[in-house]
Amino acid sequence: MTDFGYDISDYCDIDPVFGTLADLDALVAGCHSRGIKVVLDWVLNHTSDPHPWFLASRSSRDDPRRHWYVWRDGPAGGGPPNNWPAAFQAVGSAWTFDEATGQWYLHSFLPEQPDLNWDNPQVESAMHEVLRFWLDRGIDGFRLDAVHRLAKDPQLRDNVPGQRRHDEDWDTMPERLRGIRRVVDSYPDRMLVGELYLLDLVRFVGYLNSGDQLHLAHNFVFIQLPWSARAYRDSIDEFERLSAEHTWPAWFLANHDLPRVASRFDTDGQGAARARAVGLMLYALRGTPFIYQGEELGLPDAKIPPEQAVDVDGRDPQRAPIPWQPPSVAGPGAGFTTGTPWLPLVGDAETLCAQRQAEDLHSTLTLFRRLAQLRAATPALQGGAQRLLDAGPDILAWIREDAQDRLLAAVNFTARPVTLPLLGEGPDATLVLSTDADRSKHELDAGGITLGPSEAVLLRI
Ligand code: GLC
Repeated sequence: MTDFGYDISDYCDIDPVFGTLADLDALVAGCHSRGIKVVLDWVLNHTSDPHPWFLASRSSRDDPRRHWYVWRDGPAGGGPPNNWPAAFQAVGSAWTFDEATGQWYLHSFLPEQPDLNWDNPQVESAMHEVLRFWLDRGIDGFRLDAVHRLAKDPQLRDNVPGQRRHDEDWDTMPERLRGIRRVVDSYPDRMLVGELYLLDLVRFVGYLNSGDQLHLAHNFVFIQLPWSARAYRDSIDEFERLSAEHTWPAWFLANHDLPRVASRFDTDGQGAARARAVGLMLYALRGTPFIYQGEELGLPDAKIPPEQAVDVDGRDPQRAPIPWQPPSVAGPGAGFTTGTPWLPLVGDAETLCAQRQAEDLHSTLTLFRRLAQLRAATPALQGGAQRLLDAGPDILAWIREDAQDRLLAAVNFTARPVTLPLLGEGPDATLVLSTDADRSKHELDAGGITLGPSEAVLLRI
């Protein structure tokens, strides 16, 4: 748990902190009987340092597993083999010197997370076996953790500022991904989504367009954007322009590595409203929405006093436990635990907790449930075509349509009311859903619709 689960000591078991393989089987069976699929996070770039493979690898330069990891001598003048940095700023160099055998090993993240050497075919086939282990158990798909790190320059050349990096996304990526995809495709109806942290959308979309690598990839360009209608419009437009016919986006704005939406976009006190607008945006865009646990409650980041911080990279605030019940009823663990929570809860757990929100028709949880139901019941939102509208600098608006149905989604990115002209569509437009729970349906008039501050709406036109 040095990186809270991203440091694997056994690829084919469950950490006892969370239960057993039998517990997982029961979870999967319970989900499948309810029509829910289960996707596991597959940490494929690195193991943990107590993994038996690494223990063997570091034991001697002659060990048969030596080249399962990346070992190098340092240069004559001292220091690490090259200038690659670890992803976590606090770590510094991506190399650690190991006294026992007098060489350096590579770790793209913590020193406790040595990188596997995917250039070694034995590693590749052992990792494919790991996939089969979970596929045989009925797992429906995988999130490929830090997948851009899977392929590095085998010559380990220095990164040069402003030029393409040598420590990720190397030319061997496609063949690695194709190998993984072939394993997954030998089972019916399974899915791969990559944590493909590439800010070059051309390269990024290439891994989807080829049709034989990733099914989906989290688009990290999207999460870098400022809260601006224009920025989102341009980014969606660029993705669509670069996409092949079959390419399917995976939109997201939050995960366990990023500040929460309600806090990130909280300039001018609009965080809570924007968290709701983001929900509508993700469910109404063409593509698969990914919602991070707690996003459906509109949780902000928790305040973590420095002495309670546990993560090396400052990611504790977004990982605070889910408040299930009001602390006044369930105690300070808010139904997450009867013990001491591993991180402090959000300040407002009393009102933001799932139980209170489930009872409240105006809550963010109720809104997200409606969005999910609406999408499930609306083929045009799932598979319909998408057309971005030109709605000016303040509003992001788009049409989703199929032969039967036509919907218009609009998000007001400003903190003031803005009118969206309905351009002749007005007379027949009906409001399907607004993120403003107080809006009455009758406020729609023929000329247009006035969106409140940070309001998002879905209209049938
Ligand atoms: C991914 C995970 C992150 C983890 C890292 C190393 O980026 O999302 O949480 O620390 O990989 O495995």
